[in-house]
Amino acid sequence: MNYASFENEFQGKRALVTGGTQGMGLAIVKRMAGAGATVLTTARNVPEDYPIPNVYFVQADVTKPEGTAAIVDAVHKKLGGIDILINTVGGSSSPAGGALALTEEHWLEELNTNLLGSVRLDRSLIPVMLEQSKGVIIHVSSIQRTMPLYESTLAYAAAKAALTAYSKGLSNEFAPKGIRINTIAPGFVQTEAADRLIDRLAVTAGSREAALKQLMDSLGGIPFGRPGMPDEVAELAAFLASDRAAAIHGSEYVIDGGTIPTV
Ligand SMILES: NC(=O)c1ccc[n+]([C@@H]2O[C@H](COP(=O)([O-])OP(=O)(O)OC[C@H]3O[C@@H](n4cnc5c(N)ncnc54)[C@H](OP(=O)(O)O)[C@@H]3O)[C@@H](O)[C@H]2O)c1
Repeated sequence: MNYASFENEFQGKRALVTGGTQGMGLAIVKRMAGAGATVLTTARNVPEDYPIPNVYFVQADVTKPEGTAAIVDAVHKKLGGIDILINTVGGSSSPAGGALALTEEHWLEELNTNLLGSVRLDRSLIPVMLEQSKGVIIHVSSIQRTMPLYESTLAYAAAKAALTAYSKGLSNEFAPKGIRINTIAPGFVQTEAADRLIDRLAVTAGSREAALKQLMDSLGGIPFGRPGMPDEVAELAAFLASDRAAAIHGSEYVIDGGTIPTV
């Protein structure tokens, strides 16, 4: 393999990146399209001014079976097949207050957002990859799968743990058939949403620096000294999606500036 030339390494590749209108998903779309991939992305809200040209978009909610069905339909109609599936959508909307504040609905919402949306897309698109004996799937989990926080995100952490375990089993089954499946586990990443949270906390913390420190302290600190940036996660995703990572199957790559303190 010529490792020196990978500028256009995704030329001719068709990629679905879910949740590509903000945060890490947007950075991943930019990175993949920038290296030549034809990209389809998704979100619940149609972006007003999408910053990356020539990207297909389908409006869909991945927490609902009809949402993932619409995405699969768009994969066939707009991409004509698929080589790379990056399941980026995830997040938590549960209230604070610990485990007992979480209702049945909160649990189902977190499982649908952080596990079942990916399961449904994989289940529909793996057969397409099997036909060509080749494909790449990436799941975006979280360091909370090994470091669960319980104040407001216990269901999220549990769903991400399930996603990582599911990803490993899926890889065990499909690696022999040419499909490479891996997981990325980010720590605190400074997305636009994180920036807005920092702005809100700055009102009581006194400054943005103090607010950022407060957030980093809530994780036990980040040895690297700052959160990760969406572009840095996108770079990891691009590497894992590329043939440079041909021998990497069933792994989880943590990108957290050293936040997890143990091996
Ligand atoms: N940010 C962090 O510090 C951090 C840390 C660890 C792990 N993660 C994980 O990394 C991934 C990306 O996080 P992020 O912070 O970059 O996300 P983000 O900035 O909140 O962006 C989320 C993207 O997904 C879309 N989305 C959200 N819910 C959706 C749904 N139900 N159906 C379809 N699209 C949906 C959003 O658009 P719409 O709202 O318009 O649907 C948006 O495009 C997630 O899996 C998250 O759990 C994040």
